[in-house]
Amino acid sequence: MNAPWTPGRGSSTREPFVAFVCDDATADQVRPIVVELGWAADKVNKGGLRNAVQTLSVSASPNVLFVDLSESGDPLNDINSLAEVCEPGTVVIAAGQVNDVRLYRDLVASGIQDYLLKPFNPDQLREAFSQAQAVFNAPKHSEAAVERPHLTTAIVGVRGGAGASTVATSLAWLFGEKHGRSTAMLDLDIHFGTGALALDLEPGRGLTDAIENPSRIDGLFIERAMVRANDKLAVLSAEAPIHQAMLSDGSAFFQLQEEMKSAFECTVVDLPRNMLVQHPHLMSDVQATVLVTEMTLAAARDVIRLLAWLKSNAPQSAVFVVANRVPTAGIPEISRKDFEASIERKVDFVIPLDQKLAAQAAKLGKPLAEAGKGAKTSQAFLALASRLVSAAEESADDTAAAASGNKSLLGRLGGLKAMMPSKAKK
Ligand SMILES: Nc1ncnc2c1ncn2[C@@H]1O[C@H](COP(=O)(O)OP(=O)(O)O)[C@@H](O)[C@H]1O
Ligand SMILES: [Mg+2]
Repeated sequence: MNAPWTPGRGSSTREPFVAFVCDDATADQVRPIVVELGWAADKVNKGGLRNAVQTLSVSASPNVLFVDLSESGDPLNDINSLAEVCEPGTVVIAAGQVNDVRLYRDLVASGIQDYLLKPFNPDQLREAFSQAQAVFNAPKHSEAAVERPHLTTAIVGVRGGAGASTVATSLAWLFGEKHGRSTAMLDLDIHFGTGALALDLEPGRGLTDAIENPSRIDGLFIERAMVRANDKLAVLSAEAPIHQAMLSDGSAFFQLQEEMKSAFECTVVDLPRNMLVQHPHLMSDVQATVLVTEMTLAAARDVIRLLAWLKSNAPQSAVFVVANRVPTAGIPEISRKDFEASIERKVDFVIPLDQKLAAQAAKLGKPLAEAGKGAKTSQAFLALASRLVSAAEESADDTAAAASGNKSLLGRLGGLKAMMPSKAKK
């Protein structure tokens, strides 16, 4: 479950298994299976969920917890109070008499591993317990995540159609494919997002559910709600119904970012600019921001405004200006020179306009970077992805050096320099 880890209740004192049942009949059914699995029969307690909450609030949580909800008037609510006292990592199996698929779904969404309907037979118990033990022993995402610093990248389209979503999917794919990092893509264009579509996936209801019910968001929710594109890339995107507004104070989005941070090594947020205006706090933990622009007059104006906004609202984030859909022949609306003069900084990366490739990517349901292996367009994506990854690593090195008291001026300058975008090749 997802309660904050409480110091002092160390894992060394954890029991492999504890049960809280409501009646003797259930206890008699559970005990033999528990013994069979090598656990202690005297860990089968009475008192159901209420006793579970009381006991676990003052003692270490077991690896596997069996809890009987038969006496609970409001199982869902009670499960949430259990979540508050239960330590992370505990695999919970609930049992009860209510045969309702909605309740089942809600319980699972709250972090329960399984719900067994009473009366059950020994095989069901045996299977549920072994399954729970296997889940407990399986390597956790978060264990891999601690080795490398997490990288959150926000992709913001300076104007609609500039290609922000195209850049977001390509980057997310490259982080997984070329840098071997487990990556989450969060598409915050709630009504019109293309994060799933571009990868030929169904978006599912995960993101919509999260917005409607932010209290449900935890590690397990993320695991279930995210749609896998491949073994390194998972996507959370929506096609929310367009006949209703999706009301959110932004807390759901923030929490999703937090959970992704602990479950993945990289997060790519496709962040529509109106979301930026509405929920500036979404930028508070972002290490790198990619402004995707076209080289037009209107875009130049908005790059200027967004750069100023980022400077005051997300000063911690490295910013990269990426010019996309840049015509390789003919005259652009504004030349690169004039564009750079106008925004008073360099364009860091240029991605050429490649309509043939875009059409091919759409047809294949693949990110542009994948569809166009070897093409000039893909090279630009590769370079951008590598720069983002090294920027994250160097910023983490800096933090580590500062923490360890290594304040050598050279070291600090090196880190700072690495964070600064270098001049892009013409
Ligand atoms: N470099 C490019 N060359 C050709 N077409 C592109 C390129 N980048 C994006 N596109 C196309 O431009 C359109 C808009 O891109 P999209 O990523 O949805 O923009 P945004 O998310 O900024 O609104 C899409 O049809 C996409 O395939
Ligand atoms: Mg988009």
